[in-house]
Amino acid sequence: MIKNQRVVITGASSGIGSELCKLLAEHNKIVAVARRAERIPQHRNIIPLSIDVSTKEGMDRLLDTAYTALGNIDIFISNAGFAYYERWQDASWEHMDAIFKTNVYAPLYGLQALRQRKGKEPFQYLITASAMSFYAMPGYALYSGTKFALRGFADSMRYELEPGQHLQLIYPIATLTEFFLVAQSDHLPWPRQKASAVAKAIAKGIEQRKPHIYPSLLYRIMQIVSRIIPIIPIYMGIEGWRFRKEFSQGGTHHV
Ligand SMILES: NC(=O)c1ccc[n+]([C@@H]2O[C@H](COP(=O)([O-])OP(=O)(O)OC[C@H]3O[C@@H](n4cnc5c(N)ncnc54)[C@H](OP(=O)(O)O)[C@@H]3O)[C@@H](O)[C@H]2O)c1
Repeated sequence: MIKNQRVVITGASSGIGSELCKLLAEHNKIVAVARRAERIPQHRNIIPLSIDVSTKEGMDRLLDTAYTALGNIDIFISNAGFAYYERWQDASWEHMDAIFKTNVYAPLYGLQALRQRKGKEPFQYLITASAMSFYAMPGYALYSGTKFALRGFADSMRYELEPGQHLQLIYPIATLTEFFLVAQSDHLPWPRQKASAVAKAIAKGIEQRKPHIYPSLLYRIMQIVSRIIPIIPIYMGIEGWRFRKEFSQGGTHHV
């Protein structure tokens, strides 16, 4: 069980982050962050903070406030993120800017800022990547780009860490949260998981200090099988066909 830890969780107003707050709040002190702070679960051990993590000012304020409130940070879960479901030809510069700032810059900068404060002290820094860090889905070119970027970053960055400092990536499959609503897609890929199950898998991964956390065993098996029989690429091909059909019929998207 994770106990007596000083924890920061971003993306705490919904989905995976919200479930993590509920799971960890009883035995740990949490600074929980989202723009809609009023939606962060209420608990005596949770300090809600309204911050937009896509700005440097926001991230600096988050680190300052968390240090003041908690005294130190043992576990930082950089979980805030979102997607656009769209054709690449429709993606604007604004979409590119917004998604990379939230999904990539925020977790990278957060780690740098934490490391500067911690020096050689131990910590655990987790980033919610995605199953799409390995296999990109049609309609999610920008999003997959951000999640692949996290893997490349982490694989290099781990060489710079001191003993006791852990950088852990989480690879959820389709999770039943507000994610697809925000992305403006009414099609949920397969396989799927509940946010509470993902949160439990993350907690286990924290306890075991795993560098790679796969909340779905089924997806892990599919990944290994795909090295011999390409079941995931075949599935993506079918999704690609569905995606092209949806958009050729004047898909509903996008602002
Ligand atoms: N659901 C899936 O199928 C799935 C699969 C793989 C990976 N993931 C990843 O899991 C993470 C959590 O997603 P979820 O499924 O729990 O989605 P969600 O229910 O939409 O939650 C996303 C959270 O991120 C926060 N957020 C977004 N932009 C933010 C910003 N600029 N500043 C601060 N907070 C921000 C949102 O809060 P506010 O809007 O209140 O700011 C919300 O709390 C994301 O990184 C996502 O990419 C999700």
